[in-house]
Amino acid sequence: MLLLQKLTLLNFKNYEEVTFTFSSQLNCIVGENGVGKTNLLDAIHFLCLTKSAFSHIDTQHIRYENPFFMLQGWFEKENKSYQIDCSVQKEKGKILKINKKEYDKLAEHIGQFPCILMMPYDTDLIREGSELRRKFFDNVISQIDKIYLQDLMKYNHLLKQRNALLTQFAEGNYIDKDLLQSYDVPLMLLNIELCQKRKDFLKDFVPLLQQYYHFLSEGKEVISLEYETNVSLTDFSSAFQTCFAKDLAAQRTTLGIHKDDYAFKFNDLAVAKFGSQGQQKTYVIALRLAQAAVIEQLTGQKPLLLLDDIFDKLDENRIRKLLAKIDDGEFGQVFITDARPERTQSLLQALRREVKMISL
Ligand SMILES: Nc1ncnc2c1ncn2[C@@H]1O[C@H](COP(=O)(O)OP(=O)(O)O)[C@@H](O)[C@H]1O
Ligand SMILES: [Mg+2]
Repeated sequence: MLLLQKLTLLNFKNYEEVTFTFSSQLNCIVGENGVGKTNLLDAIHFLCLTKSAFSHIDTQHIRYENPFFMLQGWFEKENKSYQIDCSVQKEKGKILKINKKEYDKLAEHIGQFPCILMMPYDTDLIREGSELRRKFFDNVISQIDKIYLQDLMKYNHLLKQRNALLTQFAEGNYIDKDLLQSYDVPLMLLNIELCQKRKDFLKDFVPLLQQYYHFLSEGKEVISLEYETNVSLTDFSSAFQTCFAKDLAAQRTTLGIHKDDYAFKFNDLAVAKFGSQGQQKTYVIALRLAQAAVIEQLTGQKPLLLLDDIFDKLDENRIRKLLAKIDDGEFGQVFITDARPERTQSLLQALRREVKMISL
């Protein structure tokens, strides 16, 4: 089982220097708004996934007017101990170490210490554009499949270069077909590879999503999730080539998995349009729980589950259901934040799990 036993933060956001030790079961972080509850969860996210869940500009997380931040986490996994050190220094960038040894590539770390963060903004996943949804799925597939992450990084790199090339052609009024081919061939292969992996992933993910939604809502409605892509696995390469004129005019690549979307539905209607607030909240909670469950199903590792301020967004009945799952040990080590200690205490009283209260 994966556990975070101890965490030290130095100049990370509002924290100057502090060390926390955690329960292997349930940790509850309480304190008024603005004390740093979310920041503490974000520090855990950073150590597990090499980046913040909020801003990807690493230096923004350095405590104001300091030159660097440093996070140190002491983990246990399958009875082995790991120390993860992550530091970000202005101008010099980010360094990540496992047991004092620096990683050559940060991506090597992703998936080794899986972690899922559920937060109030998650309903943006339903309401906002497709980019957030692609990120949501890429984030979880990357924690399961290293090759997927590598291929996706390659894809994004090639796509950027191809788009720059299209701009060059359009502005310079010339076309270099050979040069274009050197991007098109690998891009086509990666499209097919990544598209297939997204499809395969959903076969594992959707049943779990449906189970959690059903469990939380006592299931009147049937939910589904549909993958939408313009990549055809059979004749994609000819479609890609026919699109060239259009791409040239648009100065960007119009076909490919970077245009994919995932449609969230219930009873065949779009959750974004027809779902009540309660249905939308339940849907995103089910999405996050299914993320945690699918990671366990496909890797054998229960991720750390970080639940930020979710009690505020849920009715008592659903909170109790969620806590019952946690109490059954379905989710491994859990971290919950709440601004109202009395409420938390009363909700957690009935649980059999070991609960550690951390007051900020
Ligand atoms: N880079 C930073 N340096 C110093 N303080 C920061 C930085 N980033 C955020 N903060 C502070 O962190 C606090 C918010 O912490 P947060 O974890 O969101 O609180 P909570 O979740 O408990 O409401 C704010 O007071 C904000 O000013
Ligand atoms: Mg918060």
